[in-house]
Amino acid sequence: MLVSRNQLLFAFSESLDYVESIVGSHHYDTAYIALSILNEMDLSDESVQEIVTAAVIHDVGVFSKNLYGQLKNYDFEDESRHAKIGYSLLNKIHYYSNFAETILYHHHRYDQNLFACVPLSSQIVFLSDRLTFLIDKSPADIALHKKYILDKVSDDMGKRFNPALFPFLERALEKNSFWANYKNGISKDIVKASFKYDRKITDHEEIKNFLILFGKITDYKSSFTAAHSTGVSRIAREIGKLYGLAHTTISDLEIAGLVHDIGKLAVDKDLLEKNSSLTDEEFETIKSHILYSHKILSMIGGFEHIAQIACSHHERMDGSGYPNRKTERNLSTEEKILMIADIFTALSENRPYRPAMRKDAVIKILKNMALQKKICGKINTTVIKHMDHLYSLNTETQKQAYKEYGYLNFNTRKLAL
Ligand SMILES: [Fe+2]
Ligand SMILES: [Fe+2]
Ligand SMILES: [Fe+2]
Repeated sequence: MLVSRNQLLFAFSESLDYVESIVGSHHYDTAYIALSILNEMDLSDESVQEIVTAAVIHDVGVFSKNLYGQLKNYDFEDESRHAKIGYSLLNKIHYYSNFAETILYHHHRYDQNLFACVPLSSQIVFLSDRLTFLIDKSPADIALHKKYILDKVSDDMGKRFNPALFPFLERALEKNSFWANYKNGISKDIVKASFKYDRKITDHEEIKNFLILFGKITDYKSSFTAAHSTGVSRIAREIGKLYGLAHTTISDLEIAGLVHDIGKLAVDKDLLEKNSSLTDEEFETIKSHILYSHKILSMIGGFEHIAQIACSHHERMDGSGYPNRKTERNLSTEEKILMIADIFTALSENRPYRPAMRKDAVIKILKNMALQKKICGKINTTVIKHMDHLYSLNTETQKQAYKEYGYLNFNTRKLAL
């Protein structure tokens, strides 16, 4: 597999902007403003790309609508917890660890202690991030709006922001093209086009490690699903191995498991956690996560097979599933395996409306589904045969995932600023 690092990044950024649709295109907007400021500075193309990269993923540590509700107030102060979570998420991932420090400091004030440690990249991301909530994309009077922005920001210079950045911002806002591109929605394309360097990654481990991040941000949206994608990935891989699939197919299954529910980022958390029955309309909204998963995954060249496996996990062999009502003959072995891995993992997890099921209850449901020809009987026989192993593997994976989730939620204070 040959995957463009930039395409992976853009797909990831796109999915971050799904975290509560109220924010729209916050990451790309931040990156666009940062790029406009950077274009006025005398920095190398490489440094510009590094800072813009950090900008497109800067709020990786935000999982909730409530927090965004606060962050979107320009004057909102002192929200560094999500910066620390973002730092922890990126810190251990090859290549992306280069951006962890920028994320850690991206809300650090100029008049706060230890500002000397704050990288220029964080200072630019902070200013650009705040400006996304101040700048009107299509103001009635640009000159008047520009004056309002600059007056407001100059009050914060020397307090929240580094005053050295002010002249560059002033020059960026001076340009008609800044406003025209922002207004016409082509700022996202401009951000993408600014990436002069790319790398084709062939290393399965690097791809997988980055996609673990996709899985984590999906899972952490709700405490009920905090281990789900990791679990599905682990179980699908194991079933693939037990079923004797080829090594590359097993790898694809593992990756598809990590990203299968990425579209859930676009679904309201309250709906995901509803503990009573869903209305038809609510169920349709939940089902739409597959379409979002598909949209994100099809942004990555080379991911066609993975996208196909990932987006079929709610299909059923009798044609009763969604989104395409596929039937047995349109489903590959990999798709059938991921389908079972998803059901198995979901049943073995706590849900808002029921506790995690015991092994015998899981077996009963899977056997029933195989009898009704909803899932593949042959694969299911393998799963039942190795149930003890798979169940304890899942328990272990869940334990580990919840440990990490708990660490992020409760121990971020340990990170020094
Ligand atoms: Fe932030
Ligand atoms: Fe932000
Ligand atoms: Fe799903």
